[in-house]
Amino acid sequence: MGDNAKFSINGDNFEYPVLTGTVGPDVVDIRKLYAQTGAFTYDPGFTSTASCESELTFIDGGEGVLLHRGYPIEQLAENSSFMEVAHLLLRGELPTEDEFAEFTNTITLHTMVHEQLRGFYQGFRRDAHPMAIMCGVVGALSAFYHDSTDINDPAQRRIASHRLVAKMPTIAAMAYKYSIGQPFVYPDNKLSYTGNFLRMTFGVPAEEYVVNPAIEKAMDRIFILHADHEQNASTSTVRLAGSSGANPFACIAAGIACLWGPAHGGANEAALNMLKEIGHPDRIPEYIARAKDKDDPFRLMGFGHRVYKNYDPRASVMQETVREVFETLKVKDPVFEVALQLEEMALNDPYFIEKKLFPNVDFYSGIILSAIGFPTSMFTVLFALARTVGWVAQWNEMISDPGQRIGRPRQLYTGPTKRDYVQIDKR
Ligand code: CMC
Repeated sequence: MGDNAKFSINGDNFEYPVLTGTVGPDVVDIRKLYAQTGAFTYDPGFTSTASCESELTFIDGGEGVLLHRGYPIEQLAENSSFMEVAHLLLRGELPTEDEFAEFTNTITLHTMVHEQLRGFYQGFRRDAHPMAIMCGVVGALSAFYHDSTDINDPAQRRIASHRLVAKMPTIAAMAYKYSIGQPFVYPDNKLSYTGNFLRMTFGVPAEEYVVNPAIEKAMDRIFILHADHEQNASTSTVRLAGSSGANPFACIAAGIACLWGPAHGGANEAALNMLKEIGHPDRIPEYIARAKDKDDPFRLMGFGHRVYKNYDPRASVMQETVREVFETLKVKDPVFEVALQLEEMALNDPYFIEKKLFPNVDFYSGIILSAIGFPTSMFTVLFALARTVGWVAQWNEMISDPGQRIGRPRQLYTGPTKRDYVQIDKR
């Protein structure tokens, strides 16, 4: 703990403890502020507010560092697997060989969904956005698993967590299959988590599907890069929903809804659409000018981040992965050239330099996903699939925290003061 922070309001002085984490900025503990001073703090968008204590993920936005339980994302992306990272986030450590076998087996045993869940898909229009389907179907899981709804029981929380991580690829692949009018493909538990997902997505019952190991590796790495990201909007949504004691499946559905927005997970879809719209490097200056124009709401999608004021470390791994996937598939995409040149131009432009706007994870991910064969509407679904591990780990951490209370922000009220009701004929 550091020195107390001194605070003065209306002539009265107060002191608040300063808490120190293992790394990262100190935190002023203002929990007693309202009780002692009668004042709230004002922080729309929570730019200066720590909402919880967490051991899961650390970001140093200035340095472009991302650590999961201490391990740098670059090392995890290079050496680990999504299942290993899931174990790390959910259980606290990288697994031993035996622990890994047990964990993978447990997740694998939960990959199937209740047969009646299929009926939910038929209720959606074929052209429904798969994120709309994901919100509905994942929320519907809460109606299926009554044996994992006592959130105060760690064993039940663990089962709900395993179910969510295991079923997400199945549910996501079904959303895709439904949109293209193909039959759902059941999981094949001989395959890896990611291989299974690729088969359920791109396989058809009439033919044998052979997983391409290079694509499986690239996809797995994309999942690792999206597994968790500290207290971002969707994770905070899951925590806030969960703070009332709500059903875990419903909390994750809330996270999916939040992730869908173009300022968050929806940016990968928006980034690729933007790159395609630019179409040719000659048009880049026009788009950079628009992004800088205060009177134009256009922003460079896949650029800028609330926390990173440096290169997003996930974006570098993504850029490398694009090259690997293109080599494997022996394809070239002019959109990648547009992206590389756009990045270079923006990084040399005073507007982007001054505001510390760098490519984020979404800038290159759409290019890879498109090369693998996913339509843009599925991009955010893949983000949701991978982020489920982080959401569930954060939700578990919150519920097990003895200091956890229902999330309830306050406000600066600027509406009318008390006034009397006027009958309709007198207004
Ligand atoms: N293009 C042009 N200008 C930008 C951009 C951009 N992409 N991003 C931020 N700015 C400007 C913004 O206009 C503002 O300028 P000023 O100070 O003159 O008003 C300044 O930079 C700060 O922006 P902000 O909106 O106050 O920053 P924020 O922390 O609230 O927003 C952001 C962060 C990610 C929502 C924003 O950078 C953005 O909209 N980026 C495009 C969408 C995107 O790529 N989102 C993916 C985020 S990473 C994946 C995820 O976590 O989901």
